[in-house]
Amino acid sequence: MKVLILGSGGREHALAWAVKRSQRVTEVVCAPGNGGIAQVARCIPVNLKDVAAMVRLAEAERPDLTIVGPELPLSLGIVDALQERGMRVFGPTRAAAMLETSKGFAKEFMKRHNIPTANFAVCLSAAEVEKAITHFHAPIVVKADGLFAGKGVIICDSRNTALEAAQGLFSGALLGEAARQVVIEEFLQGDEISFLCLCDGKHVAPMVPAQDHKRIGEGDTGSNTGGMGVYSTDALLDQNMTDWIMRHIAEPTVRGMAEEDTPFVGVLYCGLMMTPRGPEVLEFNARFGDPETQALLVRLESDLVDVLEACVDGRLAETPMRWAQGASACVVASSAGYPGSYETGKPISGLGAAAQIPGVEVFHSGTALVGGQIVTAGGRVLGVTAAADSLQEALQRAYQAMVEIQFEGIYYRRDIGHRALGPRK
Ligand code: AMP
Ligand code: GLY
Repeated sequence: MKVLILGSGGREHALAWAVKRSQRVTEVVCAPGNGGIAQVARCIPVNLKDVAAMVRLAEAERPDLTIVGPELPLSLGIVDALQERGMRVFGPTRAAAMLETSKGFAKEFMKRHNIPTANFAVCLSAAEVEKAITHFHAPIVVKADGLFAGKGVIICDSRNTALEAAQGLFSGALLGEAARQVVIEEFLQGDEISFLCLCDGKHVAPMVPAQDHKRIGEGDTGSNTGGMGVYSTDALLDQNMTDWIMRHIAEPTVRGMAEEDTPFVGVLYCGLMMTPRGPEVLEFNARFGDPETQALLVRLESDLVDVLEACVDGRLAETPMRWAQGASACVVASSAGYPGSYETGKPISGLGAAAQIPGVEVFHSGTALVGGQIVTAGGRVLGVTAAADSLQEALQRAYQAMVEIQFEGIYYRRDIGHRALGPRK
């Protein structure tokens, strides 16, 4: 069978790598792809903002299954558009993707279905924020409704700064685009866990748990990024806690979406805070995480295409997923300056030597193949990923591979996994 993957990041490289391992797959096409994906799939340029262009591409390629990676095409209704043309596609419809694309929708939905989350108010104007804010104590979290790649969340240490932040979001001064709605939220304390589940509209199957490192700096300091590294080990959550999260968060979400006639098919990524009151939802994403996917798929023993097709066909309950015991880690190498401005086009060396290290896969995020040479082409450049029997060993392999890799301005955090292991010596 032929599989089309939409996207161009490390997540899509990991998806293409896992799809290619499937016994049933004869051809993998990725649009637009990147320099690394080009080594495992045929890449075709496409603009992920242009639904008509993606539909034309899918109609020309006639894949047996399309997998949508990023949130942008989901928010534009790519799944609806492909389904209308009779194509099989893994991912939520535009309406179901609102769990991610509208924080206001997600919060009201959680309230309707008693899903634990921080206390909040959804506000349509700065005047509404001013009124609502009297019910909150600092620190206060202020979030723009909509997709802002993690940049729409501001943690404020007083009511005044929260009001200023909300004003900046409404006016467009902060994000360059005016927010229609702003969510004011209680600040939650605890460890964050990425709890990703596969969903077929009715049933939910959890993947193994992971922990992301969102800040650019070591010790979780500095600006928020798309994610600088992830590790996955079963020790992050015991079976009781996993069962609790399934019963109180993941299952009621999928049941609630079905009851509201927007059944959720795809990956439900629950971003959880493990608070002293128990797990609470910080956010939902309606897709595979990046770099979570890189660390998760190296632990997946089942055929990825079998499980994604089971989701599309509503057969998830009969399709168990098998995961390798042990652990995995993905360390992201980024361009100097990221998440601010950065240069691109820097030649990358050492990829071959890194890939020789047992258990290591180097997934490309922002790379391009130019005249036979892999060069940097984005902020996050590579996700050096390793699986092993223990978390220590997975991290050690990933860092051993990382030292082989060089490009001008390479930066990576040396403390991925520090919450589980303590600081690296
Ligand atoms: P979100 O896009 O809503 O997940 O927010 C991005 C990041 O901001 C999260 O991963 C958290 O690190 C932080 N964050 C969001 N909401 C809260 C909250 N209510 N309390 C504490 N931290 C938060
Ligand atoms: N790693 C966070 C995300 O995918 O949104």
